Amino acid sequence: MGIGMSVPKKVVTNHDLSKVMETSHEWIVERSGIEERRWVSDGETGASLATAASQEAIKKAGLEPKDIDLLIYATLSPDYNFPGTGVFVQRNLGIKNIPCIDIRQQCTGFIYALSIADQYIRSGMMKHVLVIGSEVHSTGLDISTAGRDVTVLFGDGAGAAVLGRATDDQHVILSTHIHADGTEAEILWTEYPASAHDPRISAEAMAERKHYPVMNGKKVFKHAVTRMPEALMEGMVANKLTLADIDMVIPHQANLRINQMVAKMIGLPDTKIHNNIQKYGNTTAATIPICMHEAIELGKIKPGDMVALVAFGAGLTWASVFLRY
Ligand SMILES: CC(C)(COP(=O)(O)OP(=O)(O)OC[C@H]1O[C@@H](n2cnc3c(N)ncnc32)[C@H](O)[C@@H]1OP(=O)(O)O)[C@@H](O)C(=O)NCCC(=O)NCCS
Repeated sequence: MGIGMSVPKKVVTNHDLSKVMETSHEWIVERSGIEERRWVSDGETGASLATAASQEAIKKAGLEPKDIDLLIYATLSPDYNFPGTGVFVQRNLGIKNIPCIDIRQQCTGFIYALSIADQYIRSGMMKHVLVIGSEVHSTGLDISTAGRDVTVLFGDGAGAAVLGRATDDQHVILSTHIHADGTEAEILWTEYPASAHDPRISAEAMAERKHYPVMNGKKVFKHAVTRMPEALMEGMVANKLTLADIDMVIPHQANLRINQMVAKMIGLPDTKIHNNIQKYGNTTAATIPICMHEAIELGKIKPGDMVALVAFGAGLTWASVFLRY
Protein backbone atom coordinates (compact mmCIF):
# COMPACT_ATOMS: atom_id res chain seq x y z
CA MET A 1 0.00 0.00 0.00
CA GLY A 2 2.91 2.32 0.67
CA ILE A 3 6.68 2.24 0.80
CA GLY A 4 9.21 4.55 2.48
CA MET A 5 12.94 4.86 3.02
CA SER A 6 15.42 6.84 5.08
CA VAL A 7 19.21 6.95 5.00
CA PRO A 8 21.68 8.83 7.23
CA LYS A 9 22.73 12.27 6.05
CA LYS A 10 26.48 11.54 6.15
CA VAL A 11 27.87 10.30 2.81
CA VAL A 12 31.05 8.19 3.03
CA THR A 13 32.81 7.84 -0.31
CA ASN A 14 35.37 5.24 -1.32
CA HIS A 15 37.93 8.04 -1.24
CA ASP A 16 37.01 8.76 2.40
CA LEU A 17 37.66 5.08 3.23
CA SER A 18 40.98 5.08 1.41
CA LYS A 19 42.16 7.72 3.93
CA VAL A 20 41.62 5.37 6.90
CA MET A 21 42.55 1.97 5.41
CA GLU A 22 44.56 0.52 2.55
CA THR A 23 41.94 0.44 -0.18
CA SER A 24 41.06 2.40 -3.30
CA HIS A 25 37.99 3.70 -5.13
CA GLU A 26 39.01 1.59 -8.11
CA TRP A 27 39.28 -1.68 -6.10
CA ILE A 28 35.90 -1.19 -4.45
CA VAL A 29 34.09 -0.21 -7.68
CA GLU A 30 35.67 -3.01 -9.67
CA ARG A 31 34.81 -5.76 -7.13
CA SER A 32 31.46 -4.51 -5.81
CA GLY A 33 30.13 -1.56 -7.86
CA ILE A 34 29.87 0.54 -4.67
CA GLU A 35 30.84 4.22 -4.96
CA GLU A 36 29.54 5.59 -1.66
CA ARG A 37 27.41 4.62 1.33
CA ARG A 38 25.68 6.43 4.22
CA TRP A 39 26.88 6.05 7.82
CA VAL A 40 25.05 7.36 10.89
CA SER A 41 26.13 10.46 12.83
CA ASP A 42 24.61 12.92 15.31
CA GLY A 43 22.48 10.41 17.19
CA GLU A 44 20.89 8.69 14.16
CA THR A 45 19.93 5.09 15.04
CA GLY A 46 18.26 2.08 13.48
CA ALA A 47 15.02 3.13 15.19
CA SER A 48 15.23 6.77 14.06
CA LEU A 49 15.85 5.77 10.42
CA ALA A 50 13.09 3.16 10.62
CA THR A 51 10.68 5.69 12.10
CA ALA A 52 11.23 8.12 9.21
CA ALA A 53 10.87 5.33 6.62
CA SER A 54 7.70 4.07 8.34
CA GLN A 55 6.14 7.54 8.47
CA GLU A 56 6.62 7.88 4.71
CA ALA A 57 5.23 4.38 4.06
CA ILE A 58 2.15 4.95 6.25
CA LYS A 59 1.49 8.32 4.62
CA LYS A 60 1.83 6.88 1.11
CA ALA A 61 -0.59 4.10 2.09
CA GLY A 62 -3.12 6.82 2.96
CA LEU A 63 -3.22 5.64 6.57
CA GLU A 64 -2.45 6.97 10.06
CA PRO A 65 -0.07 5.20 12.48
CA LYS A 66 -3.11 4.13 14.56
CA ASP A 67 -4.31 2.02 11.60
CA ILE A 68 -1.33 -0.35 11.88
CA ASP A 69 -2.19 -3.70 13.55
CA LEU A 70 1.23 -5.38 13.56
CA LEU A 71 4.83 -4.18 13.25
CA ILE A 72 7.60 -6.50 12.01
CA TYR A 73 11.19 -5.27 12.34
CA ALA A 74 13.96 -7.08 10.45
CA THR A 75 17.60 -6.37 11.32
CA LEU A 76 20.95 -7.95 12.12
CA SER A 77 22.00 -4.80 13.98
CA PRO A 78 19.45 -4.12 16.75
CA ASP A 79 19.89 -0.81 18.58
CA TYR A 80 20.26 -2.64 21.92
CA ASN A 81 20.74 -6.23 23.13
CA PHE A 82 17.12 -6.19 24.25
CA PRO A 83 14.32 -5.33 23.86
CA GLY A 84 14.04 -5.61 20.10
CA THR A 85 14.11 -2.34 18.15
CA GLY A 86 10.50 -2.73 16.98
CA VAL A 87 9.06 -1.39 20.23
CA PHE A 88 11.16 1.78 19.98
CA VAL A 89 9.77 2.42 16.48
CA GLN A 90 6.26 1.69 17.77
CA ARG A 91 6.82 4.26 20.54
CA ASN A 92 8.23 6.84 18.09
CA LEU A 93 5.20 6.38 15.83
CA GLY A 94 2.85 6.82 18.79
CA ILE A 95 1.12 3.47 18.19
CA LYS A 96 -0.27 1.91 21.38
CA ASN A 97 -0.71 -1.78 22.15
CA ILE A 98 0.02 -3.57 18.89
CA PRO A 99 2.29 -6.63 18.63
CA CYS A 100 5.88 -6.03 17.51
CA ILE A 101 7.89 -8.91 16.07
CA ASP A 102 11.66 -8.58 15.66
CA ILE A 103 13.29 -11.04 13.28
CA ARG A 104 16.93 -11.92 12.56
CA GLN A 105 17.38 -13.19 9.00
CA GLN A 106 20.07 -10.71 7.93
CA CYS A 107 19.99 -9.81 4.23
CA THR A 108 16.91 -12.00 3.69
CA GLY A 109 15.11 -10.38 6.63
CA PHE A 110 12.82 -8.08 4.67
CA ILE A 111 11.51 -10.96 2.54
CA TYR A 112 11.03 -13.17 5.61
CA ALA A 113 9.11 -10.26 7.19
CA LEU A 114 6.92 -9.87 4.07
CA SER A 115 6.18 -13.58 4.21
CA ILE A 116 5.07 -13.33 7.87
CA ALA A 117 2.94 -10.26 7.09
CA ASP A 118 1.37 -12.08 4.13
CA GLN A 119 0.31 -15.02 6.35
CA TYR A 120 -1.25 -12.75 9.00
CA ILE A 121 -3.18 -10.82 6.37
CA ARG A 122 -4.34 -13.93 4.46
CA SER A 123 -5.53 -15.57 7.69
CA GLY A 124 -7.63 -12.49 8.41
CA MET A 125 -5.93 -11.87 11.76
CA MET A 126 -4.41 -8.52 10.77
CA LYS A 127 -5.57 -5.78 8.42
CA HIS A 128 -2.54 -3.50 8.11
CA VAL A 129 1.01 -4.69 8.73
CA LEU A 130 4.08 -2.42 8.84
CA VAL A 131 7.19 -4.26 7.63
CA ILE A 132 10.57 -2.65 8.32
CA GLY A 133 14.15 -3.46 7.35
CA SER A 134 16.67 -1.25 9.14
CA GLU A 135 20.40 -1.46 9.78
CA VAL A 136 23.23 0.44 11.40
CA HIS A 137 26.41 -1.38 10.42
CA SER A 138 28.90 1.44 10.70
CA THR A 139 29.18 1.40 14.51
CA GLY A 140 30.17 -2.30 14.36
CA LEU A 141 32.68 -2.35 11.52
CA ASP A 142 36.46 -2.69 11.71
CA ILE A 143 37.41 0.62 10.11
CA SER A 144 41.03 -0.34 9.48
CA THR A 145 42.97 -2.29 6.86
CA ALA A 146 42.35 -5.52 8.85
CA GLY A 147 38.60 -5.20 8.24
CA ARG A 148 38.64 -3.71 4.74
CA ASP A 149 37.20 -6.75 2.93
CA VAL A 150 33.93 -6.40 4.89
CA THR A 151 33.86 -2.73 5.89
CA VAL A 152 33.87 -1.21 2.41
CA LEU A 153 30.72 -3.16 1.47
CA PHE A 154 28.29 -2.04 4.17
CA GLY A 155 26.08 1.00 4.66
CA ASP A 156 23.35 2.13 7.06
CA GLY A 157 19.70 2.76 6.13
CA ALA A 158 16.08 1.78 6.51
CA GLY A 159 13.10 0.90 4.34
CA ALA A 160 9.50 0.20 5.28
CA ALA A 161 6.31 -0.99 3.61
CA VAL A 162 2.67 -1.12 4.64
CA LEU A 163 0.74 -4.20 3.55
CA GLY A 164 -3.03 -4.50 3.60
CA ARG A 165 -5.78 -6.78 2.31
CA ALA A 166 -5.91 -7.02 -1.49
CA THR A 167 -9.20 -5.99 -3.02
CA ASP A 168 -8.41 -7.38 -6.49
CA ASP A 169 -5.82 -9.62 -8.16
CA GLN A 170 -3.91 -6.68 -9.67
CA HIS A 171 -2.26 -5.56 -6.40
CA VAL A 172 -1.36 -8.68 -4.46
CA ILE A 173 1.45 -10.84 -3.13
CA LEU A 174 1.39 -13.98 -5.29
CA SER A 175 4.00 -16.08 -3.54
CA THR A 176 6.66 -16.09 -0.84
CA HIS A 177 9.38 -18.75 -0.66
CA ILE A 178 11.79 -18.65 2.29
CA HIS A 179 14.79 -20.92 2.93
CA ALA A 180 17.68 -21.48 5.34
CA ASP A 181 20.64 -23.83 5.73
CA GLY A 182 22.85 -23.50 8.82
CA THR A 183 25.56 -25.89 7.57
CA GLU A 184 27.96 -23.00 6.94
CA ALA A 185 26.59 -20.42 9.38
CA GLU A 186 30.08 -19.21 10.32
CA ILE A 187 31.13 -18.11 6.80
CA LEU A 188 29.44 -14.77 7.49
CA TRP A 189 28.99 -13.87 11.15
CA THR A 190 29.95 -11.73 14.11
CA GLU A 191 30.95 -13.97 17.02
CA TYR A 192 31.10 -11.54 19.95
CA PRO A 193 29.46 -10.36 22.20
CA ALA A 194 27.55 -13.60 22.70
CA SER A 195 25.68 -15.41 25.45
CA ALA A 196 27.39 -18.54 24.12
CA HIS A 197 30.58 -17.13 25.72
CA ASP A 198 31.16 -16.41 29.39
CA PRO A 199 31.95 -13.58 29.70
CA ARG A 200 30.03 -12.43 26.65
CA ILE A 201 32.86 -10.11 25.64
CA SER A 202 36.42 -9.79 26.94
CA ALA A 203 39.45 -7.60 26.33
CA GLU A 204 41.14 -10.67 24.77
CA ALA A 205 38.29 -11.26 22.32
CA MET A 206 38.30 -7.61 21.37
CA ALA A 207 42.10 -7.61 20.95
CA GLU A 208 41.59 -10.49 18.49
CA ARG A 209 38.92 -8.33 16.73
CA LYS A 210 36.27 -11.01 17.28
CA HIS A 211 33.53 -8.43 17.80
CA TYR A 212 33.78 -7.49 14.11
CA PRO A 213 32.03 -9.28 11.24
CA VAL A 214 33.97 -12.02 9.49
CA MET A 215 33.19 -13.14 5.94
CA ASN A 216 34.49 -15.72 3.52
CA GLY A 217 33.75 -13.52 0.51
CA LYS A 218 34.33 -16.17 -2.14
CA LYS A 219 32.03 -18.72 -0.47
CA VAL A 220 29.32 -16.10 0.07
CA PHE A 221 29.61 -15.01 -3.58
CA LYS A 222 29.14 -18.62 -4.73
CA HIS A 223 26.15 -19.08 -2.44
CA ALA A 224 24.58 -15.90 -3.81
CA VAL A 225 24.91 -16.75 -7.48
CA THR A 226 23.49 -20.23 -6.83
CA ARG A 227 20.61 -19.42 -4.49
CA MET A 228 19.26 -16.23 -6.08
CA PRO A 229 18.60 -17.81 -9.52
CA GLU A 230 17.14 -20.85 -7.69
CA ALA A 231 14.77 -18.67 -5.65
CA LEU A 232 13.66 -16.76 -8.76
CA MET A 233 13.04 -19.99 -10.69
CA GLU A 234 11.08 -21.43 -7.75
CA GLY A 235 8.77 -18.40 -7.74
CA MET A 236 8.36 -18.48 -11.52
CA VAL A 237 7.44 -22.17 -11.50
CA ALA A 238 5.00 -21.72 -8.58
CA ASN A 239 3.25 -18.84 -10.38
CA LYS A 240 3.54 -20.38 -13.87
CA LEU A 241 5.48 -17.37 -15.15
CA THR A 242 8.21 -16.93 -17.74
CA LEU A 243 10.82 -14.15 -17.79
CA ALA A 244 8.60 -12.30 -20.28
CA ASP A 245 5.88 -11.99 -17.60
CA ILE A 246 8.21 -10.24 -15.12
CA ASP A 247 8.38 -6.44 -15.31
CA MET A 248 11.05 -5.83 -12.66
CA VAL A 249 13.40 -7.80 -10.41
CA ILE A 250 14.57 -6.10 -7.22
CA PRO A 251 17.51 -8.15 -5.93
CA HIS A 252 19.26 -7.80 -2.57
CA GLN A 253 22.07 -5.28 -2.97
CA ALA A 254 25.20 -7.10 -1.71
CA ASN A 255 27.42 -6.69 -4.74
CA LEU A 256 26.65 -5.33 -8.21
CA ARG A 257 28.78 -8.10 -9.74
CA ILE A 258 26.63 -10.76 -8.06
CA ASN A 259 23.44 -9.21 -9.45
CA GLN A 260 24.92 -8.83 -12.93
CA MET A 261 25.98 -12.48 -12.88
CA VAL A 262 22.53 -13.65 -11.68
CA ALA A 263 20.84 -11.63 -14.47
CA LYS A 264 23.18 -13.12 -17.05
CA MET A 265 22.67 -16.68 -15.74
CA ILE A 266 18.89 -16.52 -16.14
CA GLY A 267 18.87 -14.30 -19.25
CA LEU A 268 17.25 -11.29 -17.58
CA PRO A 269 17.73 -8.06 -19.59
CA ASP A 270 19.19 -4.94 -17.88
CA THR A 271 15.86 -3.17 -18.26
CA LYS A 272 14.18 -5.68 -15.92
CA ILE A 273 16.51 -5.35 -12.93
CA HIS A 274 17.12 -2.33 -10.70
CA ASN A 275 20.27 -1.78 -8.61
CA ASN A 276 21.30 1.12 -6.40
CA ILE A 277 24.14 -0.38 -4.35
CA GLN A 278 26.37 2.21 -6.04
CA LYS A 279 24.91 4.89 -3.69
CA TYR A 280 24.15 2.99 -0.50
CA GLY A 281 26.37 -0.11 -0.25
CA ASN A 282 24.86 -3.19 1.38
CA THR A 283 22.24 -2.11 3.92
CA THR A 284 21.27 -5.75 4.57
CA ALA A 285 17.58 -5.98 5.61
CA ALA A 286 16.97 -2.51 4.14
CA THR A 287 18.32 -2.99 0.60
CA ILE A 288 15.14 -4.33 -0.97
CA PRO A 289 12.68 -1.67 0.24
CA ILE A 290 15.24 1.09 -0.48
CA CYS A 291 15.83 -0.24 -4.00
CA MET A 292 12.12 -0.82 -4.66
CA HIS A 293 11.29 2.67 -3.38
CA GLU A 294 13.78 4.14 -5.86
CA ALA A 295 12.48 2.03 -8.75
CA ILE A 296 8.92 3.24 -8.04
CA GLU A 297 10.06 6.89 -7.82
CA LEU A 298 11.86 6.52 -11.15
CA GLY A 299 8.72 5.07 -12.76
CA LYS A 300 10.46 1.72 -13.33
CA ILE A 301 7.72 -0.02 -11.31
CA LYS A 302 4.14 0.99 -12.04
CA PRO A 303 0.88 -0.12 -10.45
CA GLY A 304 -0.06 -3.61 -11.65
CA ASP A 305 3.52 -4.53 -12.63
CA MET A 306 4.78 -8.03 -11.91
CA VAL A 307 7.70 -7.60 -9.50
CA ALA A 308 10.06 -10.23 -8.13
CA LEU A 309 12.08 -9.59 -4.96
CA VAL A 310 14.99 -11.93 -4.28
CA ALA A 311 17.62 -12.12 -1.56
CA PHE A 312 20.34 -14.23 0.05
CA GLY A 313 22.39 -13.69 3.15
CA ALA A 314 24.02 -14.87 6.34
CA GLY A 315 22.61 -17.94 8.00
CA LEU A 316 22.69 -18.94 5.23
CA THR A 317 19.27 -17.80 4.09
CA TRP A 318 17.63 -17.08 0.74
CA ALA A 319 14.12 -16.19 -0.42
CA SER A 320 11.86 -14.65 -3.04
CA VAL A 321 8.56 -12.79 -3.27
CA PHE A 322 6.48 -12.40 -6.42
CA LEU A 323 3.90 -9.63 -6.34
CA ARG A 324 1.69 -7.45 -8.46
CA TYR A 325 2.49 -3.95 -7.28
C1 LIG B 1 34.23 -9.38 -0.88
C2 LIG B 1 34.52 -9.52 -2.36
C3 LIG B 1 34.17 -8.23 -3.08
C4 LIG B 1 36.02 -9.78 -2.53
O1 LIG B 1 36.33 -10.02 -3.87
P1 LIG B 1 37.37 -11.15 -4.27
O2 LIG B 1 37.58 -11.05 -5.72
O3 LIG B 1 36.85 -12.45 -3.73
O4 LIG B 1 38.64 -10.67 -3.54
P2 LIG B 1 39.61 -11.48 -2.56
O5 LIG B 1 38.91 -11.73 -1.27
O6 LIG B 1 40.16 -12.65 -3.30
O7 LIG B 1 40.71 -10.43 -2.31
C5 LIG B 1 41.62 -10.08 -3.33
C6 LIG B 1 42.71 -9.23 -2.73
O8 LIG B 1 42.17 -7.95 -2.40
C7 LIG B 1 42.46 -7.62 -1.06
N1 LIG B 1 41.37 -6.82 -0.51
C8 LIG B 1 40.31 -7.23 0.21
N2 LIG B 1 39.53 -6.18 0.50
C9 LIG B 1 40.10 -5.09 -0.03
C10 LIG B 1 39.77 -3.72 -0.07
N3 LIG B 1 38.67 -3.24 0.52
N4 LIG B 1 40.58 -2.88 -0.73
C11 LIG B 1 41.68 -3.33 -1.34
N5 LIG B 1 42.07 -4.63 -1.34
C12 LIG B 1 41.27 -5.49 -0.70
C13 LIG B 1 42.59 -8.94 -0.36
O9 LIG B 1 43.39 -8.83 0.80
C14 LIG B 1 43.27 -9.80 -1.43
O10 LIG B 1 44.63 -9.51 -1.42
P3 LIG B 1 45.71 -10.70 -1.65
O11 LIG B 1 45.40 -11.25 -3.00
O12 LIG B 1 47.01 -9.98 -1.56
O13 LIG B 1 45.46 -11.68 -0.55
C15 LIG B 1 33.74 -10.69 -2.99
O14 LIG B 1 34.26 -11.92 -2.54
C16 LIG B 1 32.27 -10.64 -2.65
O15 LIG B 1 31.56 -9.73 -3.04
N6 LIG B 1 31.75 -11.64 -1.97
C17 LIG B 1 30.36 -11.64 -1.53
C18 LIG B 1 30.20 -10.67 -0.42
C19 LIG B 1 28.78 -10.45 -0.03
O16 LIG B 1 27.92 -10.48 -0.85
N7 LIG B 1 28.58 -10.21 1.24
C20 LIG B 1 27.31 -9.87 1.78
C21 LIG B 1 26.42 -11.03 1.84
S1 LIG B 1 24.80 -10.55 2.21
